[in-house]
Amino acid sequence: MKNAVSFLALALAFTALTAFTFSGSNDFVGSKSCKACHSNAKMGGTAYKTWEGSSHAKALASLKTPEADKIATEKGFKTKAADTKECLACHVTSAKDDGVGCESCHGAASAYKSKHGKGKDVADAIAAGMILPKVDDGSAEKQCKTCHNDKSPTFKGFKFKEMWTKIAHAKG
Ligand code: HEC
Ligand code: HEC
Ligand code: HEC
Ligand code: HEC
Repeated sequence: MKNAVSFLALALAFTALTAFTFSGSNDFVGSKSCKACHSNAKMGGTAYKTWEGSSHAKALASLKTPEADKIATEKGFKTKAADTKECLACHVTSAKDDGVGCESCHGAASAYKSKHGKGKDVADAIAAGMILPKVDDGSAEKQCKTCHNDKSPTFKGFKFKEMWTKIAHAKG
């Protein structure tokens, strides 16, 4: 019991430490800085092209519509949808991204951007903050549902398999 408690304390301390280390060094760099390598099957794959054509890339544009302003008003907000932080929370990754960018799912990249790629150990990238959600173990679906849930004013349910097909990308 005592061991379990001290292990837990250690685990918590470690988590706090890593969180602290990352908070200073991991900034969002924006999806455009992934474009050069991730548009090319011979480099990092074609994830950028898939993303660019997806609704995630247009998620801020969707807030700049009369329809979105109407939703914001109905929800009791006095600001326009694109100026309402409660809406931006799910629709935008950071000031550097017009919408839900790569880093919404793969983590803020300033520290791992140069630590991953051809010939590099993915473990180093993960240690530097890269998030690699997986379809197979359910972690991807879990991540989707942090935004695709009933806190979204237009939510009509979320079928993971169907939705993943629309944005699916991988290496190569
Ligand atoms: C200098 C080129 C380059 C840039 C810039 C780049 N990547 Fe990559 N990335 C690669 C290559 C090459 C691979 C494939 C590595 C392999 O096949 O083992 C990769 C793989 C990945 C992977 C899969 C895990 C891994 O490490 O194999 C993710 C996730 C990823 N990149 C995300 C990003 C994101 C997000 C950005 C922008 C913030 C980005 N990359 C910018 C070259 C780059
Ligand atoms: C950071 C929040 C966020 C995360 C995480 C997220 N999404 Fe989304 N997603 C959105 C928003 C916002 C929209 C609406 C974009 C628009 O049209 O303005 C959207 C739209 C979509 C659409 C288009 C809707 C449609 O009916 O065609 C698909 C498909 C989608 N997401 C799939 C996924 C999948 C699969 C995951 C997990 C792997 C995921 N999303 C994770 C915020 C998110
Ligand atoms: C909505 C969430 C989401 C967004 C946005 C997103 N990804 Fe991914 N990405 C995933 C998931 C989930 C996987 C794992 C797929 C699997 O398990 O096969 C993945 C896999 C990858 C892989 C392959 C990893 C491997 O090991 O095979 C690369 C490379 C990658 N993403 C790069 C990017 C880049 C670059 C962008 C932006 C242009 C981006 N992703 C945007 C969720 C996302
Ligand atoms: C919890 C995350 C979340 C919040 C908060 C959120 N949205 Fe969304 N929004 C989404 C997702 C995910 C989608 C796509 C699927 C859906 O409709 O749930 C979406 C879709 C939309 C669409 C439809 C886009 C299209 O063209 O199909 C509009 C408009 C919209 N949201 C406006 C708003 C407004 C306005 C607010 C703030 C009052 C807001 N959203 C808050 C996650 C969110």
